[in-house]
Amino acid sequence: MNAIPPLLEVSGLKKHFPLRGGFFGGVSAHVYAVDGVDFSISKGETLSLVGESGCGKSTVGRALLRLIDPTAGEVKLDGNRIDNLPASQLRPLRRRMQVIFQDPFSSLNPRMRVREILAEPLTNFGLASGRSEIDDRVALLMDKVRLPRDSMRRHPHEFSGGQRQRIGIARALAPDPDIIICDEAVSALDVSVKAQIVNLMSDLQDELGMALLFISHDLAIVEHITHRVAVMYLGKIVELADRQTLFARSHHPYTRALLSAVPVPDPTIKRQRIILTGDVPSPINPPSGCRFHTRCPFAFDRCRTEEPVLREVSPSQISACHLTHAPGAEILPAGA
Ligand SMILES: Nc1ncnc2c1ncn2[C@@H]1O[C@H](COP(=O)(O)OP(=O)(O)OP(=O)(O)O)[C@@H](O)[C@H]1O
Ligand SMILES: [Mg+2]
Repeated sequence: MNAIPPLLEVSGLKKHFPLRGGFFGGVSAHVYAVDGVDFSISKGETLSLVGESGCGKSTVGRALLRLIDPTAGEVKLDGNRIDNLPASQLRPLRRRMQVIFQDPFSSLNPRMRVREILAEPLTNFGLASGRSEIDDRVALLMDKVRLPRDSMRRHPHEFSGGQRQRIGIARALAPDPDIIICDEAVSALDVSVKAQIVNLMSDLQDELGMALLFISHDLAIVEHITHRVAVMYLGKIVELADRQTLFARSHHPYTRALLSAVPVPDPTIKRQRIILTGDVPSPINPPSGCRFHTRCPFAFDRCRTEEPVLREVSPSQISACHLTHAPGAEILPAGA
């Protein structure tokens, strides 16, 4: 049987950053930033990667884009390995996988006009040549992100934050990518502007069919845009489910803690409130057993020694937790 491979398939992905500073300047320890992550993204799908600061979201994104080399694991695009491609063969990958960062200002060259910024990927990848063809393509990109065409002659500082992020989106769209990695792409924007940009990305996805890996710590925003959600804690995915299931019937206590911080617009949805205390432990020396046990109000002996693996807790919902409650059901402390 020839099943169609997912657009992007990530298995066993790890990124351990060596820390120097030992005796004689050798490697003294490692930051286990990403420590065995598996997921896939289908064509045209949005997968969100959520979790607290430092849990490894951006490191996953950077490893997929080959801005850094993974320590271990496999990444496949359309079934072909891309994690081990030599630098000389990264060009087609650069076209197919684009990125939008949080701060469009620092990623847009202030000395270039918007026309030049958008022309760059077109000429780099040989997608347009000659002044009039490039002008036409740039004008269409401006239309796509709903910016007036004549503003292509302006410089980035002449735009508002939301408009600059539109330019960032247009630049990512320029080479007609299969997937865009959005790393906190709307986090720095005001609430109303955030919603506009998220809606724009959603519309563009419907129109153009690219997949999105939407990296965010903001579950309220994620709920508006995503098809599925992967929740990360200290370098691992602890729960992965489709959007409706995750927001209505989450399983992992950590997911519930993150959701506790999100206002519930639908009063029929009941959520067990779990308020997180304490800081995220250091990824240099992650806790034994379940990495979340030091902050989990329901932890019992097994959690301190045995690492839980992701298991199916309902169709299209996997969770890495030793507790045996049903998804959505209240969690009772062990032994209760
Ligand atoms: N180049 C590096 N060298 C050493 N440690 C690093 C490096 N890059 C990231 N880290 C560490 O890896 C861990 C994961 O970082 P990462 O930036 O991926 O987290 P994040 O989930 O994106 O956080 P945030 O929400 O704050 O953006 C952190 O502890 C971070 O300090
Ligand atoms: Mg980050």
